[in-house]
Amino acid sequence: EKSGTVNIDGHIYITDSWFNTPHNILDKIPRRLHVQKDHPVSITRQIIQSVFPEPTYKYYNNLSPIVSTYQNFDSLGFPEDHPGRAKSDTYYLKKDLLLRTHTSAHQAETFRANLSDGYLISADVYRRDEIDRSHYPIFHQMEGARSWDRAKVPNGDVAKAIWSDLEKLPKHDIEVQDPNPPFHPKKNPLQEAHHSPSEAKAIAAHLKRSLELMVVQIFTRAQAAAKKADPDYVHEPLQVRWVETYFPFTSPSWELEVYYGGDWLEVLGCGVVKQEIYIEAGVPDQVGWAFGIGLDRIAMLLFQIPDIRLFWSEDARFLNQFRNVSANLNQLRRFKPFSKYPGCYKDVSFWLAPTSAAGGNVKANAHDFHDNDIMEIVRSVAGDAVEDVKLVDEFVHPSTGRKSMCYRINYRSLERTLTNEETNVYHAQVAEILTRRFGVEIR
Ligand code: PHE
Repeated sequence: EKSGTVNIDGHIYITDSWFNTPHNILDKIPRRLHVQKDHPVSITRQIIQSVFPEPTYKYYNNLSPIVSTYQNFDSLGFPEDHPGRAKSDTYYLKKDLLLRTHTSAHQAETFRANLSDGYLISADVYRRDEIDRSHYPIFHQMEGARSWDRAKVPNGDVAKAIWSDLEKLPKHDIEVQDPNPPFHPKKNPLQEAHHSPSEAKAIAAHLKRSLELMVVQIFTRAQAAAKKADPDYVHEPLQVRWVETYFPFTSPSWELEVYYGGDWLEVLGCGVVKQEIYIEAGVPDQVGWAFGIGLDRIAMLLFQIPDIRLFWSEDARFLNQFRNVSANLNQLRRFKPFSKYPGCYKDVSFWLAPTSAAGGNVKANAHDFHDNDIMEIVRSVAGDAVEDVKLVDEFVHPSTGRKSMCYRINYRSLERTLTNEETNVYHAQVAEILTRRFGVEIR
């Protein structure tokens, strides 16, 4: 993994020592599930698009996943030492080129292009992550934004223009808990240098109503699908609540949580766009809001899909269940799981090199080893034939100072029964790569 090249979608990219993207990831880049007809992720995208109509909102569904560190981090005000930039969390092609970790990577350029008042960007995003039924290193996000231009509204009164746009939005009757003040000095501050309190309040009000309407569209469909699957199903009234949070590129910022199926679910992040981003994008007179939502978890919930790997399945028993759904987004049917193939648990235990022994032949020590490293080895060996990987034990030997780790790998295919021989081969390869790449000692 020194310097070399990699071919993605017919383009050649030069790699350097930062290159850490395995082939099982690169190979999936062309899949583009969010635009695949009748795919649950694509259906979810269409439902959300219906809440943010053209031409006020312009849709971008084909932006390349390969972006610069400037697009993904710097343009959004991420500090130099932000953990998201680490190789343990992000797939790099080279030092300044990576697979986007979020759709916000396109915020600055879309503001700069300035082609519409609002936009929706849907895209595949990539994060090195754990393995379980709700995590996959590729997932999908939708980013939305709405801007107003001080120079273009009557009398320059942007707050008034925003309130008048808010009046035109539909109302809803769900219960909303919003205990926070519109902004919170220190914790969630008004951008004092750029916005008056009344402007920030107007932006936040338009943002919140828009996103509450989105939740209504999504979750009333989930309730209807649940009811269709089980006529006795009684749904609790939909509730949402706004929670303060932090993003480097919005202030104030919130998360929206939805009470559904007995749990509070964190659904999206959003906030008032940092004015520096508009200024840097050459549109300093604009103000507005942005949000980002994960599509996969929503699709799982809408259709009751039990395992995120199913989205990548090309099995007709999966895909055929969603045929022609896009033609009628008001008639969703829940997924009927086909029987699960047997799984097989195997543990791998090993000693990491002591932290003091770095150098010499030792390739990795306790500091260099990251959970995501084993996740990735398992994925590169067994592909989608693994359901989850869990750290089950971890301790430091009192006298040698060596650290021991034990991971439990649950091998299970969605498509077939794995033979014991097959899983043994996978498991031996995992141990072999761990030893070779990280210098661990298998116990
Ligand atoms: N990009 C953020 C994330 O991935 C979500 C977000 C988008 C938050 C836009 C605020 C505004 O978590």
